[in-house]
Amino acid sequence: MNKKRVLSGLQPSGKLHIGNYFGAIKQYVDLQQYGNEVFYFVANYHAMTSISNKQELEQNSIDIVLDLLALGLKPEESSIFMQSHIPEVCELAWLLSTVTPMSLLEKCHSYKDKLAKGILPMHGLFAYPVLMAADILIYGSEIVPVGKDQKQHLEVTRDIAVKFNMTYDKDVFKLPEPFIVQELAVVPGTDGQKMSKSYHNTIEIFMAEKKLRKTINKIVTDSKAVEEVKAPETCNVYALLKLFLDEAELQIWDARYRNGGMGYGEAKKALFEAMMDKFGYARKKREELKNNMDYINDVLKAGAENAKQAASVVLDNARSAAGIL
Ligand code: ADP
Ligand code: TRP
Repeated sequence: MNKKRVLSGLQPSGKLHIGNYFGAIKQYVDLQQYGNEVFYFVANYHAMTSISNKQELEQNSIDIVLDLLALGLKPEESSIFMQSHIPEVCELAWLLSTVTPMSLLEKCHSYKDKLAKGILPMHGLFAYPVLMAADILIYGSEIVPVGKDQKQHLEVTRDIAVKFNMTYDKDVFKLPEPFIVQELAVVPGTDGQKMSKSYHNTIEIFMAEKKLRKTINKIVTDSKAVEEVKAPETCNVYALLKLFLDEAELQIWDARYRNGGMGYGEAKKALFEAMMDKFGYARKKREELKNNMDYINDVLKAGAENAKQAASVVLDNARSAAGIL
């Protein structure tokens, strides 16, 4: 892959789960290679659309930085920063909103889904994709690793960028591409629906060991007895095991399902062990980072400096194209 500018953001709206890991963070970590220029931020302005408690927002925002560093983001390779440390993004969001048709935002699934869940139709929620477009465009991002549910927001971003470039007859913005790994696009939750904080079906990456075991034991399966033959392709536990095991290990489990004589409890135990194995190092590292807040603040400061530099180039271009004195 050619060297690219990569950017993504995560909302600090709760504890990270394995859907977030496989759908987004794993790609963040991988994309740090190849000499890419990489920006990752904590979308705390966006999280205000769902959190209105000061302590909760502050704590979640720091927690997510600890999580990301523990899971393999490297400050030497990525600029890691807080969205709000670059308030210029809010200015760009305004410039973009002046060329954004209402109809473009009205068709956004995530807005409609949230209203359907009873969330009040605030302007911030409606304008969410415009701020997200500003996040992406202000850094001249080319590749945006996200889960499948964010694909439409990337399309909206491209539409807004084209509209602005056409309105002012100048190529101010680059058109970003989403980076979605298809087979990881939707990780199922403990109930088999898409894993999501809002469905209360998550398996958190950094859950205490005992709670993790309990949560895995709650994964919904059919009620086939131990001796019965089972179908791995329709089993939630197997779908999750697939994320952690290699081909050879999977074949063994596949056979155990199909031969009968295996209870779901055994597959759940294997899933617990695979998770502890995969995230064991990250768990230890997170504990260390928690006690080193000076380091965390330094990382955020350096990240924001890089981000600010990149943002000011694009914002100045956009202001000047539009005739903002
Ligand atoms: P949640 O649905 O739990 O609130 P977010 O919307 O904060 O999760 O998602 C953060 C990132 O993780 C996004 O890029 C999203 O696409 C990805 N993601 C979230 N849940 C899943 C899932 N179940 N499978 C794959 N990717 C996911
Ligand atoms: N909307 C994204 C989510 O919920 C978070 C986000 C905000 C984002 N700004 C972004 C993701 C810019 C990628 C790029 O997951």
